[in-house]
Amino acid sequence: MILVRGGRPLRGTVQIRGAKNAALPLMAAAILAEETCVLHNVPCLHDIFSMDKLLAHMGMKIDFTGRSMTLEARPEMTPEAPYDLVRKMRASFFVLGPLLGRFGRAKVSLPGGCAIGTRPVDIHLDGLQALGASIRIEEGNVIAEGRLRGSNYALDFPSVGATENLMMAASRANGVTHLTNVAREPEIEDLAKFLNALGAQISGAGTDMITVVGVETLGGAEHVVMPDRIEAGTFLAAAVATRGDVTALSANADHLPNFLNKLEEAGAEIEVRGTRIRVAASNGIKGIDFTTRPYPGFATDLQAQTMALLTCAQGVSHIKETVFENRFMQAAELTRMGADIALDGNTAVVRGVEHLSGAPVMASDLRASAALVVAGLMASRGETAISRVYHIDRGYERIEERLSALGADIERIRE
Ligand code: UD1
Repeated sequence: MILVRGGRPLRGTVQIRGAKNAALPLMAAAILAEETCVLHNVPCLHDIFSMDKLLAHMGMKIDFTGRSMTLEARPEMTPEAPYDLVRKMRASFFVLGPLLGRFGRAKVSLPGGCAIGTRPVDIHLDGLQALGASIRIEEGNVIAEGRLRGSNYALDFPSVGATENLMMAASRANGVTHLTNVAREPEIEDLAKFLNALGAQISGAGTDMITVVGVETLGGAEHVVMPDRIEAGTFLAAAVATRGDVTALSANADHLPNFLNKLEEAGAEIEVRGTRIRVAASNGIKGIDFTTRPYPGFATDLQAQTMALLTCAQGVSHIKETVFENRFMQAAELTRMGADIALDGNTAVVRGVEHLSGAPVMASDLRASAALVVAGLMASRGETAISRVYHIDRGYERIEERLSALGADIERIRE
């Protein structure tokens, strides 16, 4: 359980860690490599440990020391990802494309993950079929087989995971693949950079069309994981929410265009110097409207934290969630803390209130739980006791210690 006594402005600097959502597909990509891969700036998070466990179970040799990870995918790996290891994290599904690309066959359990909508994997499977894989579902597992060949494929929706899976699979296919309507998230560029360092021939990552010239084999490489834009955004949201002044170090403001603009529109002062992003909110914050969209739009992974900060803004905010269904799970808990939020389908109307009060609340998914931490820091009365904090630990490294260092009154209590 995490206990927060709010009402203190956050002040100081916070070191931003490597991006979870970049590190997970990078680890999976190591399956494709015939030689040793080394990743640096890997965050120490539960999701990373889950992927480590899954890859090790399949026979990969992994050493994770400090923030560096060495991965050796041996030829005798078993290309099978069982339910027990996959169900905890949807990103486990990232192993499907590389297993198929390297071994020509894979058996991967259908994933679980955050409870934010149905989150199907139809685009992943449809795309792999377009690359020549034969796919069937048996007892909850996807069984994919076949030597992949280059092909043209247009995604129905720019899914981040599907773009990554297809890019990885195509990198060792026979021939050229053109993927259109792909996701443009910075994590996709990071993955393409790593795959190219292994010897792949990928161009266009970061745009809506990616071309992959398939190669016979991939070697090894060393790579530094990009900074976590969502972690940075969460700390900056907490700074604004508490009317504080926080500088995120080792961050990349270019990855947060829409979010930073919106904070500014709400009345925050923003200063970017190289890899430092400073956000301060000495004056009041006013309500804003925003809509989540695939990158470079407003990140859905920052929607909940931003909703929390807007609960005490002056005036009314309108939030529209277009990426996931059912991603307002923080709203009911925020209401228990005194927020005024009305939900109508994928729209939330947040009417600013004077103050929030601490309450016992329950984390339901990773980003919703980050929103509850932000709300707890804002609450000027009482204590907020957040249970089910394993959701937070999936994506934030020792969040309570880092917030304490910024002046928050927050602690972890064994349940
Ligand atoms: C990734 C991120 C997650 C983020 C999300 C959107 C990782 C590990 N996770 O998740 O933090 O919230 O991008 O930015 O990188 N969809 C389908 N069919 C598919 C695939 C997706 O309908 O085959 C739908 C999903 O249900 C969802 C939307 O597309 O509504 C976006 O999903 P997607 O971009 O695939 O998200 P993930 O890769 O799972």
